[in-house]
Parts: sequence; structure tokens; C-alpha cells
Amino acid sequence: LMDGNGRWGLNRRKSRNYGHLKGLNTVEKVIKSSLDQKIPYLTLYTFSTENWKRPDNEINFLFNLIREHIKKNLKKIIKQGIKINIIGKRKKLPFDIVQSLKLIEKKTKKNNTLTINLALNYGSKEEIINAIKKLKNIKTITIKDFERNLYTKNIPDPDILIRTGGTKRLSNFLL
Ligand code: IPE
Ligand code: IPE
Ligand code: MG
Repeated sequence: LMDGNGRWGLNRRKSRNYGHLKGLNTVEKVIKSSLDQKIPYLTLYTFSTENWKRPDNEINFLFNLIREHIKKNLKKIIKQGIKINIIGKRKKLPFDIVQSLKLIEKKTKKNNTLTINLALNYGSKEEIINAIKKLKNIKTITIKDFERNLYTKNIPDPDILIRTGGTKRLSNFLL
């Protein structure tokens, strides 16, 4: 749960967006360590359903970062054997990002070193509502039915949660 990036930038007499830019370097370090440590799953809370309340310039900056990062690193990601899995509601995301994410999921589908779950326009409450809608015709809903309809269906429950910003809360992540 990458948090505190905006404050980090401001504390260095720069901008919140500068903090986001530098935060991406840290993500790269975390990915490298995860590969080295043979950690099978890493879920990155990248953009929440609540983050749409932020100013447009910050939202655009974040999506541009994602855009550029994918373009620059797609080959490397494939070569490293990383599998990319997107969790969250795709509908509201910029069209070109959804397209390139679909492509990256397809190209990394058979990879099996580290699975990176990219939580984009993700929020647990929206995830639950989405599951409920899919289950509305089932009379007796089991836990298995529920789990099968979550964005996180192919991901084991998390063993460890790291929130970098200094506060302890879940912010609608992986309930
Ligand atoms: C990054 O940190 C999280 C993203 C939404 C990318 P924040 O943007 O939450 O930074 P703070 O917590 O406001 O400092
Ligand atoms: C959670 O951090 C969202 C992401 C890391 C993407 P926020 O900074 O947006 O959450 P709150 O506002 O502190 O709950
Ligand atoms: Mg924050």
C-alpha cells in the first residue's frame, strides 16, 4: 500500500507529483527484492476508487506515470517472468491504459516467477458490489461462490501488509 508519496515530495520542497515519480523507483526496488526473495505474489495498491477525488492534475500525472512505465518496461517484465494481473473496475480507467493492460496481461499470462497484482481503480467495497451483482440470480450463495466472483479470485489472502505512509489503516484495500 504505497502511501505518503505526496507528503514525501512536499517535505522535500518539491511537489506531490515529484513524490509519486520517486515512489515509482521504490516500487522497482520492491519488485526486484520480491523476485530475489522468490515471493510469489505482490499486490500494489496503485489507484483506489476514492482517489478520483484528487485534483485532475494529480490523477493525470499518476496515469501518465503508469502509461510511460508500461511502455518502457514491458519487454523487461516479460523477460523477468513476471505475470501481471489487474484487479479493480476497469470501466472508468482511460481507454488506452485498459488496452495496454489487457495486452500486458495476455503477454505475461504464462509467466510464473512473481505475480504482480496491480490494484487500479480498486476498492474492496466496489469489488463486493460487483460480486453481488454477478450473484444476484443464485439463491443460496456460498463462500466459494462469493470468492469466485471477486477480482482477487486467483490470489491467496495476503500474509503481510506494508503501508508506507506512517498511518495504520486499510483505505478500502483487500478486505
Ligand atoms: C501515493 O501516496 C498513493 C497513491 C495514490 C499513488 P499518496 O498520494 O497517498 O501520498 P500522501 O499519503 O498524500 O502523502
Ligand atoms: C490508499 O492511500 C490508496 C493507494 C495507496 C492507492 P490513500 O492515501 O489514497 O488513502 P487515505 O486517503 O489515506 O485513506
Ligand atoms: Mg495517502
